[in-house]
Amino acid sequence: MRRYVRALLLCAVLALLSALYVFREFVTSLERPTGGGAEARGARHAAALQRHHGARGARPGAAGGAGREEPRWYQRCNNLSVSYWNPYWRLPPGVCAMNCLMESSFRYIMRKVEPSQVGVVAEESTHLAVVACGQRLEETLTMLKSAVILGKRPQQFHIFAEDELHSDFRSALDLWPAMYRSRFSYTVYPITFPTENAGEWKKLFKPCASQRLFLPLILTEVDSLLYVDTDILFLRPPEDLWSFLGQFNSTQLAAMAPEHEDPRIAWYNRFARHPYYGKTGLNSGVMLMNMTRIRKKHFKNDMTSVALRWEDLLMPLLQKYKLNITWGDQDLLNIIFYHNPESLFVFPCQWNYRPDHCIYGSNCVPAEQEGVFILHGNRGVYHDEKQPPFRAVYEAFQQYAFGDDLVTSILLPLQERLQKTTHTYCGRVGHLFTKRLQQSLSALQSGSSKGR
Ligand SMILES: *[C@@H]1O[C@H](CO)[C@@H](O)[C@H](O)[C@H]1NC(C)=O
Ligand SMILES: *[C@@H]1O[C@H](CO)[C@@H](O)[C@H](O)[C@H]1NC(C)=O
Ligand SMILES: *[C@@H]1O[C@H](CO)[C@@H](O)[C@H](O)[C@H]1NC(C)=O
Ligand SMILES: *[C@@H]1O[C@H](CO)[C@@H](O)[C@H](O)[C@H]1NC(C)=O
Repeated sequence: MRRYVRALLLCAVLALLSALYVFREFVTSLERPTGGGAEARGARHAAALQRHHGARGARPGAAGGAGREEPRWYQRCNNLSVSYWNPYWRLPPGVCAMNCLMESSFRYIMRKVEPSQVGVVAEESTHLAVVACGQRLEETLTMLKSAVILGKRPQQFHIFAEDELHSDFRSALDLWPAMYRSRFSYTVYPITFPTENAGEWKKLFKPCASQRLFLPLILTEVDSLLYVDTDILFLRPPEDLWSFLGQFNSTQLAAMAPEHEDPRIAWYNRFARHPYYGKTGLNSGVMLMNMTRIRKKHFKNDMTSVALRWEDLLMPLLQKYKLNITWGDQDLLNIIFYHNPESLFVFPCQWNYRPDHCIYGSNCVPAEQEGVFILHGNRGVYHDEKQPPFRAVYEAFQQYAFGDDLVTSILLPLQERLQKTTHTYCGRVGHLFTKRLQQSLSALQSGSSKGR
């Protein structure tokens, strides 16, 4: 008797598993953009996919609908010299350059989470993107807080985060007071790695960092984007940096600050085993992108004699340089702009001020004159004791309670705390950390008191 029950149980489990399998296959087939005439739910899901992951059907030039000819990406893929195309390197879902090689396993990856969209995108909002993984929730929220406190224009946040963090982001942001909440809308997106090789991706790069390279292909509806690392703090309104986009000449499509000001202590010119932009390379922690232009441009490169589109460029580049790169996707950006220098707009170091600018003595001249505009606490300096002025600014924003007076709650205590850090090199220029912030906050204060 017992044996029968066991056998029955086993059968039930097997039946359930096969049902699940069939169901997944069914859903997957609905998700594929070519599956025309799908029923409402499938179509809705596919539309969401297209919106958020730049599905192939949506791209101009791809086989859209009637003819069912081979899509353009398929041909292109086959035409490339395949020496650097390793099936091992696959793009996140919806980024289709590699599908021709791995169509079957790609289907497997195409399970997608629908991001949560909250709020309304205003006409002329600035778009800010960040990628948060691991322990970066608090840091990311603090960065967003600085953007919301100082920004005057409406903002749209694109937050790419590991699934575990999604609800934390939503509940934190939704709790911000209405007065601030009304100034921004946000979308939380899943991080997308190819399922099978997620481990490899994460080993090669800081977890999730490479996501930023794919933003032009994921956010296909967005014209331009300000990408920042999680360890950024705005000390003046984000839209001030955004305005550089309007200064681009006809060939420029991205903007970054140099990795270093002083070649004697810079990294790339001493250690890099790959090409890099300019004298000391670029830092990608604060990056403006005109993604419309990025998606259109054909990039010169050292892999094929033909210029390649962004989506066709990344994988072979990774493949060629993966053994030689140290700082992951930042190195790839350096290689790309080494070959396409006319496409880059360089903004000054005070828009991406790092410990490098003060630990061996002050070397960011524009910051000495006008103060720091955007602080970048890389190397974990917000969380250890190595560079106390950086930590002081971070904690000033982190501890600020919305609604409190900005000057007496952020500025004055910060200035006092910075006074106590003058025994360090960065502390000696501590006044630069608040020089611009003071102006920003006073302007807000007088603006809001006039408004009432
Ligand atoms: C691929 O190569 C074929 C023949 O070599 C050519 O006719 C076709 O236009 C190429 N396709 C693309 C997208 O470059
Ligand atoms: C980005 O470039 C496109 C095409 O040149 C242009 O129409 C658009 O206005 C630019 N975006 C911004 C924010 O300057
Ligand atoms: C990688 O670095 C090695 C050693 O410096 C160099 O010989 C090789 O050419 C580099 N590879 C590429 C693709 O640049
Ligand atoms: C735009 O500016 C870049 C950087 O200064 C320069 O290399 C490029 O030639 C300029 N493009 C045009 C069309 O003037």
